[in-house]
Amino acid sequence: MNEQPKISLIDALHLRQTYDAVKAKTVPHHRASIWYYFGGLALFFFIIQVVTGILLLFYYEPTTDTAYKSVQKIVTQVPFGWLIRSLHSWSANGLVLMVFVHMFSAFIMKAYRAPRQMMWVSGVILLLLILGFGFTGYLLPWDETAYFATKIGTEVPKALPIIGESVSSLIKGANDVNGATLTRMFALHVGVLPALSILLVLVHIGMIMLFGSSSPPGMKVTGETRYFPNYLIKEMMVWLLGFAILICVAVLYPWGIGHAYDLANPTEPPPGIHPEWYFMFLFQTLKIVPEWMVIIGFGVVAVIWTLIPWLDKRAGNNKKSPVFTIIGIVAILYMCVMTTWAYISVSQEQKESPASRQEKNSDSTNVK
Ligand code: HEM
Repeated sequence: MNEQPKISLIDALHLRQTYDAVKAKTVPHHRASIWYYFGGLALFFFIIQVVTGILLLFYYEPTTDTAYKSVQKIVTQVPFGWLIRSLHSWSANGLVLMVFVHMFSAFIMKAYRAPRQMMWVSGVILLLLILGFGFTGYLLPWDETAYFATKIGTEVPKALPIIGESVSSLIKGANDVNGATLTRMFALHVGVLPALSILLVLVHIGMIMLFGSSSPPGMKVTGETRYFPNYLIKEMMVWLLGFAILICVAVLYPWGIGHAYDLANPTEPPPGIHPEWYFMFLFQTLKIVPEWMVIIGFGVVAVIWTLIPWLDKRAGNNKKSPVFTIIGIVAILYMCVMTTWAYISVSQEQKESPASRQEKNSDSTNVK
């Protein structure tokens, strides 16, 4: 009888090359090694988003009549629906935060240098996709804040000369934010963005497995850990810590839901309406600089940011480049200062609103 040659599952799945690359990968030890965990944490929150997003999809109904009610049903009637929604919303914030920390640490550590240039480029596209998730997801509960924040956001491109009106209508799917906008945001949020980002995350992770982690120029490498299984175990422990924090926050501070927005009875925006924290630096910039300048300015910055690996002329001999480090620190400071300023302005607007003044007056009358 002929004996069949034994073939391992890895060979059967044609994963031998990938397996060998992962087995050979090592992670260097140095003073800044801790920053390697943030890419992994971004991946962890991304996975949480995919899983909780699919679960929410079983109950969410994307029309202007049903969206708010379906979210209400998820948080009040569906078993553990409130927890899944809270996890999805908090983890979205965790993901954006981790992506920003990961991007700036990669920038300051010069991890974008050869051979990782395309890791940087795929990262910049991932950042835009993640911000796209934030923008499109904000409208889905169809409450007052969602409606008015999207209205403000989709009006911004109108400031662009010639093409402004068309770009704004293209995003809204209509002349104003309505059911067509909700359909469009929903399609982007659950179809287009997940497909593109899952593909890009796979490419991004595939590249790190092939190229390995970089070491910052001029930093003393004191040793290395084998990625599989030693470093992976450490990474899983960090994920567990991330999960513990996430679940505590999601349970202790369940994500709220505002007042339903009724298209048939249009109302005025409530005072101090604002986007999510990660768009606040842009929101504040738009208040103090002409809108068209902001759009063009940020477009130019995005292109330059993507081309960083080729603009860093010291990359060739892997020398330190303090100018690039300073650029990174200035960018972080700019975002922090503008975000704080934006929150101060919003809270002032809320305090000075007629509704808040009326409330104060009635409070003082009651005291008398
Ligand atoms: C969903 C978003 C993202 C995920 C899931 C992700 C995931 C990862 C992971 C797991 C690593 C390996 C561990 C590490 O070195 O930190 C990594 C490395 C890297 N990522 Fe990301 N990343 C994302 C976004 C970004 C962004 C926005 C950028 C920059 C614009 C970026 C640039 C890089 C670079 C240059 C490396 C190589 C780091 C090194 O070798 O030291 N990534 N990423």
